[in-house]
This record gives sequence, C-alpha cells and structure tokens, in this order.
Amino acid sequence: MQNNISLASHIGDYQFDNLLLNAAGVRCSTTDELNKTLDSMAGGCVTKSATPEERAGNESPRMKPLPLGSINSMGLPNHGIDYYLKFAEENQGKNGKQVILSIAGLSIDQNIEMLKKVQESSFSGLTELNLSCPNVKGKSQVGYDFDAVRDVLTSTFKFFKKPLGLKLPPYFDFNQFNGIAEVLNDFPITYINVINSIGNGLVVDPETESVVIKPKGGFGGLGGDYVKPTALANVRALRQRLNPEISIIGTGGIKSGMDVFEHVLCGANLVQIGTAFGYEGTPIFERISKELKEIMDKKGYKTLDDFRGKLKTI
Ligand code: SIN
Repeated sequence: MQNNISLASHIGDYQFDNLLLNAAGVRCSTTDELNKTLDSMAGGCVTKSATPEERAGNESPRMKPLPLGSINSMGLPNHGIDYYLKFAEENQGKNGKQVILSIAGLSIDQNIEMLKKVQESSFSGLTELNLSCPNVKGKSQVGYDFDAVRDVLTSTFKFFKKPLGLKLPPYFDFNQFNGIAEVLNDFPITYINVINSIGNGLVVDPETESVVIKPKGGFGGLGGDYVKPTALANVRALRQRLNPEISIIGTGGIKSGMDVFEHVLCGANLVQIGTAFGYEGTPIFERISKELKEIMDKKGYKTLDDFRGKLKTI
C-alpha cells in the first residue's frame, strides 16, 4: 500500500520528489560525490559551502565520529565558488532533481561577490547563504549578530533576484527566535535551513585526557543525536514566527524515518541529513524513505501535508 504514499514536497516553485537531501558539508565536496547523491533516491543535492577561492580548511584530525553523533572543525575546505557554480549550472534539474548551491563567504563583501556571480550566471536553482559556519578561526557566526544579518540581506536584495535560502545557527532563547524572525520577515527569503551544527562544543577523551580534534584547541560543531531536540525546537519556533511564504528545511539529528517524521511535524518542508549520511552514504536515502513511508502508512497519512506542522501541545 506504500505505493500511494508520497514524499514529495516543494520550496517556493521548486518541486522535490523526495524531501530528503544531504546537508551541506557531507559527501558534497566533489562533483563525483554530488553526482552520486543526484543518482540516489534523494530529492536533490546541496553543494559544499563555497568561498570565493579554493580553501584547504583546518588541520587534521578535524572530524571525529562519536557514539551519539560527531564533532567537526573542518574550516570550510572547498574547491571555490566557480567549481560549484559550474556544477550547479550543468546539473540543476538532472533526473528531475534540484541542486542547491551553498555559499559561505568569510565576510559580507565575499558573500556579495559570490552572490553577484550567481546572479549573473545561468544557474536557475536555489542558492543557500550559509551564515552559520562555527569553524573559521577568528570569525564569529554572522547568524548570531542580527544587525549583521540585516546588513547582508539589505545589500543582497538590492541586486539578487534569484530565490535565496539561509543556513542559520541554532538559537536557544525565545529572544533569539523573536529577534531573528523579526529580521527575516522583512526580506523576500525563499527558505531558511535550521540548524547548522551546535558550534564550539568540546569532546573529551578521558582515556587519553585529550580533546579529540586538533583545530581550535578541540572546540567544534556538534551533529547527530546530540542536536536533534535543538534542531526540532528551531524548526518549530521559527515556523511559528516566520511569514508563511518562507519555507523551512530541517537539519539536525536525522538518522531514521521517525526523525524525519518529527521534523515534518514541527513544520519542515524538506530535511537534510548530515552526520548519518556521512556514515552510511547514499543508501541512507532509500532506507529512510522506506521507514518514513511505513510510519505514514501506519498512521494513515498519504502526503507530508497531512501532518506537516501539526505537532500537538499538552
Ligand atoms: C566546516 O566546513 O567547517 C563546516 C561548515 C559549516 O558548519 O557551515
């Protein structure tokens, strides 16, 4: 009976046959990895967040798998905007799938420079501006500075006419939910993506009495099980505060169909899988699709709209 259950969704005018995507940063640095995701059951792919030029990123070891997730301080290793923009131009719509182009400048000027390139290009898909990388030494996450977010969006929308999404850091206080929503609601943003990793966690190995990654003295972004409740809170709190035209991608702690179900109940239009995709590779999209369909079948739901945002309170 699961044949009549649909996992299709959309962000603005962009249709996705399946709501599952990779999260930026995981298995998406090369065209080979990106093509593998486009050839899988995922609804599309997201490119590694690009900087204006190629970057080597932070020193290794810079990612550590953990029993309940992962910690990383990659520092934006990537092939540069031209590499990912070319891929996005050539592959947007391949197999009926969407390519989301992620960019993460190290300054407002760098973001504007890259967005101008995107505007002038033939790329017709969604662009995601990452305002939340916690791992660049000496740079703080723009997403926590609401005036800076307003400044970058004001400058951007003076010339950027293509659909834009924002990758945001996790927020933890109702003042923060209110503050960021107030800024975002003033702009024609197509979607937000919450959350990036919980920045600057610290994992200690008591055996060796040491940190487990090298950059930044061991501080790094947490992903996986550690972050799911924070991710769900951000999807829910921002869905309650943002204009309805702004869609939400839920990212954080997804490794099963039930995790996706919870994100959608909180209001997610699409979801992205980071840590668990890193461990399992592209077969994860088929496994999670099957698990989600089983859950929907048991509950009598045929489409994601049947339960999206319908989380009950007690
Ligand atoms: C990284 O490359 O450090 C991760 C990217 C991100 O968290 O935005």
